[in-house]
Amino acid sequence: MTCNLPSEHESRIKIQGVEIALGFPDEFKFQWIGQKDVLDQLLAAWMVIDKDDIPLNPRLIGKPGVGKTTLAYAAAKKIDRSVYIFQCTMDTRPEDLLITPVIDQSGGIRYVASALVTAMIRGGVCILDEANRMSEKSWASLAPLLDTRRYIESIVAGLKVSAHPDFRICVTMNDDASTFEIPEYIHSRLQPQIFLEFPEAEEERRILRENLPFVDEYIMEYVVNFLQRAHGSNENYTIRDGINVARYAAKRIKSLNGNKGNTENLLREAIIMTLGDEAMSYVE
Ligand SMILES: Nc1ncnc2c1ncn2[C@@H]1O[C@H](COP(=O)(O)OP(=O)(O)OP(=O)(O)O)[C@@H](O)[C@H]1O
Ligand SMILES: [Mg+2]
Repeated sequence: MTCNLPSEHESRIKIQGVEIALGFPDEFKFQWIGQKDVLDQLLAAWMVIDKDDIPLNPRLIGKPGVGKTTLAYAAAKKIDRSVYIFQCTMDTRPEDLLITPVIDQSGGIRYVASALVTAMIRGGVCILDEANRMSEKSWASLAPLLDTRRYIESIVAGLKVSAHPDFRICVTMNDDASTFEIPEYIHSRLQPQIFLEFPEAEEERRILRENLPFVDEYIMEYVVNFLQRAHGSNENYTIRDGINVARYAAKRIKSLNGNKGNTENLLREAIIMTLGDEAMSYVE
């Protein structure tokens, strides 16, 4: 299994004589705010503490919009890795996850590495996002990567690719309905499980502020109060919902030239239009 390591800006590499095009890392300004425990747990899972040790493959679990992708991204940046996000869907095939053949302009075949394989080769972090949407067939192709073997086998390119020692993976999953059951042999390879909960009011305020630095304080306060009341009743409204409400309310108020006379109504309207009438029961 020979490969010459490319720099982040080189986009091609030869592995066992086969040329592969690599992807580019994802660059966002995501920062993790509050909830230090889950960040520490994730970083510990990725640590290697002995020459015979290997990193674990943690699974982040929580409701949609609770911060799973943000946490995985921020943790990877904390250890100075580039991040490659692979968005999993029901239609993800094993070759999409690994290496895809494409026809080039001259009619020949070119092989293109996925975000996952690019991260494996470059020693980056791969976030397999919303991984519970993938079918068992696709999961099966990852079995050797997720245990002590740390390699994948691409049937289409006829290659075995070993993970760089710096390669780390993190899988995010939410507990909504549109998902496949994950087979037990994969479950046992995706440990530990890290559960994300709703943040406390003060953290929620800081998260909203970080995401929407241009939005007025009274909108933020309104939305934080709404979210905290909803969390208190175990309702599923998350930070993402709060961000959407605050963003829309700010636009709506701005579009009316800051006419604060009917601000209260516009905030209510923003909640209803974003989350529906039933959300109003959490407004004071
Ligand atoms: N602790 C946090 N620090 C900073 N931003 C946060 C935090 N928690 C949530 N957010 C913000 O909330 C929004 C939703 O977060 P994110 O997309 O990471 O959620 P998710 O759990 O991955 O959702 P989904 O299951 O729908 O993919 C983002 O805008 C993110 O910036
Ligand atoms: Mg996500």
